[in-house]
Amino acid sequence: MKTISKIGVFTSGGDSPGMNAAIRAATRTALFKGIEVTGIRYGYQGMIDSDFVDLNRTSVSNIIQRGGTILKCARCMDFMKPEGRKIAYDNIAKEGIDGLVAIGGDGTFKGASIFSQEYGIPIAGVPGTIDNDLSGTDETIGYDTALNTALDAIDKIRDTADAHERLFIVEVMGRDAGFIALETGIAGGAELTLMPETMTRTKEIKEALDNILANKKRSTLIVVAEGDESGGAIELSNILKPDYAKYDMRVCVLGHIQRGGNPTARDRVLASRLGAAAVNALYDGHENVMVGVVNNNIKITPLKSGWSKKKSIQQEILDLVRTLK
Ligand code: F6P
Repeated sequence: MKTISKIGVFTSGGDSPGMNAAIRAATRTALFKGIEVTGIRYGYQGMIDSDFVDLNRTSVSNIIQRGGTILKCARCMDFMKPEGRKIAYDNIAKEGIDGLVAIGGDGTFKGASIFSQEYGIPIAGVPGTIDNDLSGTDETIGYDTALNTALDAIDKIRDTADAHERLFIVEVMGRDAGFIALETGIAGGAELTLMPETMTRTKEIKEALDNILANKKRSTLIVVAEGDESGGAIELSNILKPDYAKYDMRVCVLGHIQRGGNPTARDRVLASRLGAAAVNALYDGHENVMVGVVNNNIKITPLKSGWSKKKSIQQEILDLVRTLK
């Protein structure tokens, strides 16, 4: 078993609220165990550029409540090439880093899996993405905050939709996964919820809408994930507009507002648990793993399974959406 003396912590891919809480927990847990901590700025790009910063108890003070990430995020093309990874490895080895805590989503973990296999460096992944699309954890860091941000916006849209008796199409994030759409759809009382996991043809959408509009006089809300096969809210409205002109349709794309803001209590606790669990996993000799929380217990799974297995949406929840519309 390799003994870890210095870990490198980085955030990568799209940021998510709670990443700072994870950085703080990983740093403080490592220091508690006598392990030094280096922050790597801009994810994999920072490894290639040797953009390192020492992390200590005080440098991670007063960040648990902040959205974004003090270590910054980047999507790094050079790291996808073997030459880029070689430079990255040489730089972190020179820095004395002998274990990595990778906070991010599927892209981050794909890169980490390859890197760990190529250079034998132990890596523990911490699932941080608002999309909640990683297997091996019930929820990812940032999902709860994004959900509540989207829901707050949807509630407000409902007020004005109700006042004008309008039909609104609201687009939420989720390029490949519909978790945000599904749960904001339920919590916001949407009449129709569209997501990539369920194929809904235009004909079916129109039939459903006709039924809803025939029974309702007031506001009507369609929640659509950006990655839905319809193409998203704008595309969907262009398809529907000719047939529903009298409903004074409006479109709202919530976009990156869902990625910002102070993390909820639930995300702060999840991030604290997972940041600490990642360091504990490395300390205990795990390599190439992801930490998650499943049924309220810490679970360690192979890093690869986090992104290679598609996290499925429960049929019972899908049924609920149809029942409650
Ligand atoms: O992966 C999280 C996510 O917010 C997706 O829901 C969204 O499609 C994507 O990131 C947007 O990425 P970017 O900020 O790079 O445009």
